[in-house]
Amino acid sequence: MRGWAPLVWNQASSQFMSFRDAKSTVEVEDLRREFKGKEGKVLALDGVDLKVKEGEVFGVLGPNGAGKTTMIRILSTLLLPSSGSAKVMGWDVAKQPEKVRPLISTASGAERAGYDYITARGNLWFFSQLYGLPSKLAHERINEFSEMLGLTDYLDKKFYALSTGYRQRVTVVRAFINDPKVVFLDEPTIGLDVMTALKIREFLVKQAKESGRTILLATHNMAEVDAICNRVGIIDKGKILACDTPMALKRSLGAPALVMEMAPPPDSASLEPLGKLEGVKGFTSSIDEERGVGRVQVVVDSDESAQGAIDFARKSGMNLISNWRQQTTLEEVFVALVGRGFREREHESPS
Ligand SMILES: Nc1ncnc2c1ncn2[C@@H]1O[C@H](COP(=O)(O)OP(=O)(O)O)[C@@H](O)[C@H]1O
Ligand SMILES: [Mg+2]
Repeated sequence: MRGWAPLVWNQASSQFMSFRDAKSTVEVEDLRREFKGKEGKVLALDGVDLKVKEGEVFGVLGPNGAGKTTMIRILSTLLLPSSGSAKVMGWDVAKQPEKVRPLISTASGAERAGYDYITARGNLWFFSQLYGLPSKLAHERINEFSEMLGLTDYLDKKFYALSTGYRQRVTVVRAFINDPKVVFLDEPTIGLDVMTALKIREFLVKQAKESGRTILLATHNMAEVDAICNRVGIIDKGKILACDTPMALKRSLGAPALVMEMAPPPDSASLEPLGKLEGVKGFTSSIDEERGVGRVQVVVDSDESAQGAIDFARKSGMNLISNWRQQTTLEEVFVALVGRGFREREHESPS
């Protein structure tokens, strides 16, 4: 048995079930996508396999450039794969896109989706009509979803007059207005204030749990995944490196992370050997300029390995001013898989 499997209310059979028994709504097999860029070919997706279950909030977590948007675009029939297959509710996204489209919807945090001089309500009504929704039903859904997202008082304001947070709430309502079975969201809370992000996350969880929708969420926000995803696939350079519940992934590391602070900050070359120590799965380092302190976070498999890392720092002549252990997060899971942190990965030149 692998990890913790949450229970979910199954509408069809009117009973609680675990995701293990739920049917797969998204099935991806050996999916590849190549782009021809200025500096030659880029393999944006490099053999992705994935199964997402009905009623699940599934996170695709990875740093910028990992391939998340490419995957969302393929799954939502906006881009063709180079090879491999992807199915939504059993339909092949490349071969039967006309079967897939009525069952899905997609929204991105990067888009600015609305007509400025129409009200929020007018915008939503307009989109509902593109889906051919009866007017009464459309208004009911607009009201219901807006209420859940705290958007009601803003519905009759013109779109341009809304703040970024409220515009994004409109975008989220729009993504659910056609009663989709599967919703693909690309960084839906990127750049939003905390309150809006919370509201949107709460809404997504409700939509999955109570309406049995599958939500596939691409994000580079680990806290978001921790907060709402039943399972997560960690993606880097077009490959899914691990896939499980956030809890199981964190537990798999075996021991709390070690944090060491050093003054002055050690240079990166002298830290290199740290990554090769027995039981050290990877580390990240950063500098607190203000305090003139270097902070090194080490992912270890046991308390002995943590001690080994401390001994290494001392023997190398680093001035260790403090060290402590810290509950592992998905960041450490990524470090253990890749050897480096999210931000360091994003600053690496593409290989
Ligand atoms: N239209 C495109 N043309 C060329 N390269 C692309 C294109 N779209 C994406 N890429 C490249 O594919 C890789 C994955 O990009 P993307 O899917 O946008 O990642 P993410 O959404 O995780 O940041 C990156 O190296 C990116 O530069
Ligand atoms: Mg992206």
